[in-house]
Amino acid sequence: MAYTVPKLTDYSAAALEKKASQLLSALKDESTAVKTESDYEAFRVRWAGRKDSVRTQVNELWLKAAPKEAKRAAGQLVNEVILPGIDGELRDRHDHINNLAVLKKARAEGIDAEIDAARRALELSDSVDITLPGIRRPIGAEHPIIKTRNEIVSVFERLGYSVAEGPVVETDYYNFEALNFPPNHPARDTQDTLFIAGQQSKPQRERLLLRTHTSPVQIRTMEKMRPPIRIVIPGKVHRNDPPDASHSPMFHQIEGLAVDTNITFGDLKGTLDHAMKALFGSNVKTHFRPSFFPFTEPSAELYVTCFICGGSGKRGPDPCRPCKQTGWIEVLGCGMVDPNVFEFVKDNGYDPKQVSGFAFGMGVDRLALLKYGVDDIQLFFQGDVRFLQQFG
Ligand code: PHE
Repeated sequence: MAYTVPKLTDYSAAALEKKASQLLSALKDESTAVKTESDYEAFRVRWAGRKDSVRTQVNELWLKAAPKEAKRAAGQLVNEVILPGIDGELRDRHDHINNLAVLKKARAEGIDAEIDAARRALELSDSVDITLPGIRRPIGAEHPIIKTRNEIVSVFERLGYSVAEGPVVETDYYNFEALNFPPNHPARDTQDTLFIAGQQSKPQRERLLLRTHTSPVQIRTMEKMRPPIRIVIPGKVHRNDPPDASHSPMFHQIEGLAVDTNITFGDLKGTLDHAMKALFGSNVKTHFRPSFFPFTEPSAELYVTCFICGGSGKRGPDPCRPCKQTGWIEVLGCGMVDPNVFEFVKDNGYDPKQVSGFAFGMGVDRLALLKYGVDDIQLFFQGDVRFLQQFG
């Protein structure tokens, strides 16, 4: 028998509660039978339509008909329990039949990932139907950038380095000033910095920006740890570069820093040569070219023999593109820590007369591109499962 709203004679709290729970359980029962959009429409009209619906009858028979002294209790019940109950059930059931329709469409199209997603949404919107087959939960794959990052980090861990991290939103002080970029120095312009808005009222060194490199964590770490230190610093960095096949406004770096007494450029060369061989194979050759960074002196760029063409500059009869036919690929910037940088952390044991050190910073995304032969950096950040699955 379909539910009809009864007249009330007894307005005690217990009686009201009993009638409300009968109504709500009838609502639930009828809702379960709603499977299509047209079922739903009939269901909606019957329970919440403007005329002669359960909703209007409850208003008439339970509220308006209530004697004065019971109006308050009846009103509370109708407005806080029954009407929200009807609205909520209608909404849930509508979501549910939408999900059913999405599942039906996904099944017709035969796309596994979409079938699973629709099944999951449906499961959330319905009580469990134990006769359905289980849901396959695909196992994720490590992202190629994370994989490359972990490989690089573990090469250095095996050399006794530890891992440090720092904030992505950085102050001008750590990103520039303490790295020997004086205020207004033209070298700052080479970093295409993205600044946080509304910082003009602060003193320059406190202004916030998105760090353009992981080097600020050199300073942060030296402020906290006394020498000797050997650390690698993986992390996200940002630059105002328009996205294209080889640029992304967000990318990843791994910084390295070793400080001790008597660290020499020979240590820098030996460490990086070892790391490159561990990463790219023992056949790889390294080559240092002079460069400039405000926070290292002398500075260099490290090149390795192209691991695509093996250093020949050719792939079969064709020119090798990744190394632009030179046979060499630039992988990082490095150098001996500039004494001016130590001055900023002198009080924590970094007297430039006592200690020396080297630092380096490499682009993880670039290395991942080269390693996996991917020709567009954007693919790493679009979250397309078909691309990412290939690295699983
Ligand atoms: N921070 C530099 C960059 O992003 C790289 C670097 C790090 C150079 C450490 C020297 C020493 O270009």
